[in-house]
This record gives sequence, structure tokens and C-alpha cells, in this order.
Amino acid sequence: MSTNTTDNQRKVTTSRLIEMKSRGEKIAMLTAYDYSMAKLIDEAGIDVILVGDSASNVMAGNITTLPITLDQMIYHAKSVVKGVNRALVVCDMPFGTYQGNSKEALASAIRIMKESHAEAVKMEGGSEIRESIERILCAGIPVMGHLGLTPQSINKFGTYAVRAKEEAEAEKLLADARMLQEIGCFALVLEKIPAALATRVASELGIPVIGIGAGGGVDGQVLVMHDMLGINKGFSPKFLRRYADLSTAINQAVSHYIDDVKTSDFPNASEQY
Ligand code: KIV
Repeated sequence: MSTNTTDNQRKVTTSRLIEMKSRGEKIAMLTAYDYSMAKLIDEAGIDVILVGDSASNVMAGNITTLPITLDQMIYHAKSVVKGVNRALVVCDMPFGTYQGNSKEALASAIRIMKESHAEAVKMEGGSEIRESIERILCAGIPVMGHLGLTPQSINKFGTYAVRAKEEAEAEKLLADARMLQEIGCFALVLEKIPAALATRVASELGIPVIGIGAGGGVDGQVLVMHDMLGINKGFSPKFLRRYADLSTAINQAVSHYIDDVKTSDFPNASEQY
């Protein structure tokens, strides 16, 4: 499907994503955690930027997403927002800031919106956190749902294997997806579930379903930027396509720089005052 330049430059909003789904235009989403990278991917035309709690892994070097704090997520989201003109900026609510009770969840979401100027929040889970999602939605804050392999529950799952392969878990996922749409979520991320199940959810729901490891039958795709750019080479799940090999490019550039410094090639006469 082709879109004209004016349309390509239009600010992406939650309602625009729903329009994109209804006309069959796929949604491209990537994570970002800082101003410079957010600016680059926004200029490239990405539709949605997720300030993911994967920052805990790729920015802070933690093994899971659990340690990242609300203050740290706000710091990342604030930096991203400053680099973005067009994309919709969604910020993950970190572990422990919304599962306890709905009042605390609302306070966390309000801090994200007020302090970072992100335009929406993403929350992992279904019926268990319904009350928290509803309270946040009531405050006028758009919520993106996230079902399937929800990394904040890794200690319950015990593995990063594909979720909802068994009927009971697939039925719960379907019911949760319907409920998230019914209460007013504007979009849903499905992570690492069978492609047939994800296709079924996307075809039943009117809101956009964005997949990661959920096949091509959904309304859009999301990847962690460090994984797709080949910065983080230690992570190679089947669903990941690498679009660049930045770890090699960075290694070569830095080795070249070290050589130039050691051999006094850098700086040369034109590179000084
Ligand atoms: O935190 C994150 O990067 C995410 C995506 C993997 C969807 O939640």
C-alpha cells in the first residue's frame, strides 16, 4: 500500500493507528531509549517508538527487565520524546509500579505522562491487572496491552519459550485480548506466541495487534532496536531479523581510531587549531 508524503509526515496518534489497521497498512514499531537514536528512527519514518523496559537489559546490562525503576523509565522516555516529531511515543510501565493496586498504578502512569511527555503507556498482563488499566484509561491515558511472553513474569514462567501453545493458555490469552479491547486499550502487543493464535486475535480485534515473534498475520511488528541493528549479538531468537551489523562496524571503527591514535596519525594538521 502506498501513502503520500503529507500522510507520511503526519503525527502518529492512537486513533491514526486504528485507521491504519482498518485500511490494512502495517504498523512499524521499534524500541528506543535515548534522544539521538530516537531522532534517527523517527526521521527514518518509524510509526511507533516504544521506550521499552528492555532498557533494563540493553542499556543497563541487567539479565531481566525487573530491576528498572520508574525514575529510570521516565529518564529514558523524556530523552526519547525530545528527539521525536512524528512517531507515537509509548512508555513501558516498569515492574512493580502497577501490579499492587490501581491507585498506585494511576500515580505511576501520571508520573510518566507528566514528567516524560510520552503519549501512552504499555502494561503487561490481562484480567489480573484489569482494574489498574481501567483506572489509568479513566484518567485519559492511552494504554497499549501486552500479552503472551510478558518478560516481567519471567520468574513465574521460568523460561523464555513460546507461550500459549496449550489450549488453556491460548483461551485465556484470547479472553484477555477481547477484554483489553473492550475496556479501551488502543493497541495490543503479542509476544512469542504461535502465529495462528496471533492471526486469530488480530482478525477478531478492531484495535491494532503488534507482534514480536508472533508471525506475519498481525497488524504490525516490533523489535528491540539493539537486536535488529546487531548491537546486541548475544540474543538470536528465531523471530529476530538483523538489519545491520553495528557491533562489527563499531568494533572496526574503534580499532581504526585506536591505531590512528597510537601511530600519531590522528589528529593530522587539518584536524587541529
Ligand atoms: O520492553 C520491550 O522492549 C518490549 C518489547 C519487546 C515489546 O516490551
